[in-house]
Amino acid sequence: MFGLTHDAIDRLSDAHTWESGATYWASGEQTTLTCCRVVDETHDVKSFEFRVGDGTPIRFEPGQFMTVSASVQGQSVERCYTISSPPTRPYLVSITVKSVPGGVMSNWLHENMKPGTQLRAFGPSGSFTPTAAPATRSLYLSAGSGVTPLMSMTRASIDLGLDRDIVFVHSARTPADIVFREELKKLTELSPRLKTFFMCEGVGDEDGWSGPVGRLSLQLLSQWVPDYIEREVFTCGPAGYMNAVRTLLHEGGHNPARYHQESFDISAGVAPEPIAPASEAAQQSFTIKLSRSSKTFTMNAAETVLSAARKAGVAIPSSCSQGMCGTCKTKVLEGTVDMNHNGGIREREIQKGFRLLCCSRPTSDLVLEL
Ligand SMILES: Cc1cc2nc3c(=O)[nH]c(=O)nc-3n(C[C@H](O)[C@H](O)[C@H](O)COP(=O)(O)OP(=O)(O)OC[C@H]3O[C@@H](n4cnc5c(N)ncnc54)[C@H](O)[C@@H]3O)c2cc1C
Ligand code: FES
Repeated sequence: MFGLTHDAIDRLSDAHTWESGATYWASGEQTTLTCCRVVDETHDVKSFEFRVGDGTPIRFEPGQFMTVSASVQGQSVERCYTISSPPTRPYLVSITVKSVPGGVMSNWLHENMKPGTQLRAFGPSGSFTPTAAPATRSLYLSAGSGVTPLMSMTRASIDLGLDRDIVFVHSARTPADIVFREELKKLTELSPRLKTFFMCEGVGDEDGWSGPVGRLSLQLLSQWVPDYIEREVFTCGPAGYMNAVRTLLHEGGHNPARYHQESFDISAGVAPEPIAPASEAAQQSFTIKLSRSSKTFTMNAAETVLSAARKAGVAIPSSCSQGMCGTCKTKVLEGTVDMNHNGGIREREIQKGFRLLCCSRPTSDLVLEL
């Protein structure tokens, strides 16, 4: 077997390994994954299945993501990808990646990942998991590649024979763009309490498409899921889709406390926004020094440190730009920042002086350990 040591093969062959439970792979911890299979899901989406280099089983929660890292044209690039496989199959992790036009990592993965190829990855993170909001009845709403966390949740539920009451509504551009179409149909046959519905913006080449065409409406949702108001809702997809879904549910009277969403949107990373009020404080200018490279740049208080560093030509590893993944974690040696994170850093790391630069704005001059 490619990439596996004899010890690892022995371990995988030993029944005790299966009984011993999976190892915890901490979110900041780097490991090497070995690709064992590439699956063409649609014309522009592939799944990459990996084994941890030494054959160790992995523990994670359905819906969590990992951060993968690769050297692309001499630059270190990091991006988050949801683990689309369920934690009930702890010897294998898969990610399902849509090739984004002009996108660095997604296209690099599509072109380079083959059985035997190794990939650096940082352990699972994220709180978009059903364990955060246990429910007897759930509604999964996804669009495009946003299907991945909901797929991991659904696969886990079916693997465990939980027979949970799940309605899975997936929107795609055309029928040919529906990721996991056949598998979702099969899972529906396996579990009478799982219902799946697909809808498409257009029929594309599939003239025989009998499902609805257009965008999800309250009328359609009420028809498919008459009890949607009583369900815990998990939504993942492009920002526009999620905004539309939130508005629609709000109009329908769904309780926002039972609504959970995850954004894959990278727009914040591409063009980070300054904080709204152009107050005097926000106009203040600060000097940022990098202790290792001796570089210096100035920025105003309204910007995130990551965004200002990018503008100054300083490359800082980052992925989600939303304070979730922890990729941009950096020690602040001197000075103070205002950090507004989304779970990508632990309290003890904050105590040690680390901050997430994608969601930190300076409140004084800074010296960073970079
Ligand atoms: C928590 C999380 C989970 C995710 N899970 C998945 C998943 O399961 N599957 C999946 O496919 N994706 C997922 N993503 C998205 C993924 O992390 C990447 O953002 C995505 O693959 C695009 O990365 P890229 O390197 O290919 O594109 P990038 O190189 O980051 O570029 C993306 C787009 O921005 C444009 N762009 C780049 N730089 C600029 C610029 N300076 N100005 C203007 N435009 C620019 C590019 O042309 C391209 O269109 C997830 C993201 C998050 C945060
Ligand atoms: S880039 Fe993900 S936490 Fe900063």
